Amino acid sequence: MEFRTIKGFKDILPHEVGNWQFLESEARKVFHAFGYREIRTPILEWTELFSRSIGQETDIVSKEMYTLTDSRGRGMTLRPEATASVVRAYIQEGLYRKNPLQKLYCIGPMFRHERPQKGRFRQFHQLDAEFFGDPGPESDAETIIMAMRLFERLGLEGLVLNLNSLGCPGCRPGFREKLTAYLAERSDALCGDCRRRSETNPLRVFDCKVPGCGEVMAEAPAITGSLCGECRDHFAAVSACLERAGVPFVLNPRLVRGLDYYNRTTFEVQTDRLGAQNAVAGGGRYDGLVKLLGGPDHPAIGFAVGVERVIALLEEKGARATPRPDLFVAAIGPAARDAAFGWVMDLRALGLWVEMGYGTGGLKSRMKRADRLGARKVLIVGDDELASGKAVLRDMGTGDQETVPLSDIVNYFKGAF
Ligand code: HAM
Repeated sequence: MEFRTIKGFKDILPHEVGNWQFLESEARKVFHAFGYREIRTPILEWTELFSRSIGQETDIVSKEMYTLTDSRGRGMTLRPEATASVVRAYIQEGLYRKNPLQKLYCIGPMFRHERPQKGRFRQFHQLDAEFFGDPGPESDAETIIMAMRLFERLGLEGLVLNLNSLGCPGCRPGFREKLTAYLAERSDALCGDCRRRSETNPLRVFDCKVPGCGEVMAEAPAITGSLCGECRDHFAAVSACLERAGVPFVLNPRLVRGLDYYNRTTFEVQTDRLGAQNAVAGGGRYDGLVKLLGGPDHPAIGFAVGVERVIALLEEKGARATPRPDLFVAAIGPAARDAAFGWVMDLRALGLWVEMGYGTGGLKSRMKRADRLGARKVLIVGDDELASGKAVLRDMGTGDQETVPLSDIVNYFKGAF
């Protein structure tokens, strides 16, 4: 075949889409219950929006962005995540002027030029939630609880909530110094990238997948030991809120997340069922980002769920039932077909899913088609039935048949399914 999807991009086929719709509709219910409203932003933004937000030294910005240039040479990038775009819209549209507390969610495709593997794609989808205007810690806990509530509603078990604090601009530089000193003594054991990172952005070394770097980082100082009093109190209050709400978590001092905008609380929801791509959701507080992008000094926290990874977990539990027609009209002969065409259109107007066989097929081929579609019931109408004003209705599940009057057939089916 001449054209196939691009590597790392995939079709979501009709037999798969049930789980997608289920996930989206459950997410909307949960988000609405927590006061979130939907926002839809463009998938293409100025490159600088992402490089400034996510950070030059991150893998996302340095290696994974799909960037093109416009006719004036300005870089535009397919969004690798949603937070930067939502923050841009929050500032550009002055959303905070209408209401100082804004809870916004968005659902859609993201693009990262990563090496595709199980659970990792180049076009993937996120359910993204962002809460602006409250410094927490209740809002941190509320945001995390909302994520966990969604997984609970989906019936997913065995997910582990990992929690950490990355400190603030007051205490993180001290930790950075400590870490830089630790890494400098072990630079021979680090990969080339991490040797560079240990000077430019040492926290990123925690994310490196090279085994040698992993060994070095296993012994590295933990950020939780360097938090200032306020960050410690904040973290303790978030943990206490989660405990009160009965949401279990594990403290993971090595959880630094792959984006630079975070401060204080960070979290990731992990599974052991998807191999190396173990994060089904991740997020945290990013109090400095709105200001960094030219907006007011407003705190914020949020997270994003990786849709494909959640779908993979839902699929393990079994596919959702494929939708099937309520009724199939097997009309035999031109007069019956003419009449049936009108009924089918009227029944569809009532919201029923009704199919009929076109063309000159006989009863056998019509029944075969109804069966293949999985129709619940079949109405069998030929010229004789039209003349007598009565037709046969067969229940395809039980095989039972009954006679139904044709005089007011549309009303007969109204409310019958
Ligand atoms: P992230 O950790 O980069 O955070 O992505 C969030 C989730 O998206 C991941 O946990 C994962 O489930 C999914 N994901 C990421 N990359 C891929 C991929 N290549 N293929 C499939 N799934 C993927 C963010 O994007 C932040 N913007 C989250 C956030 C919102 N922080 C604050 N607000």
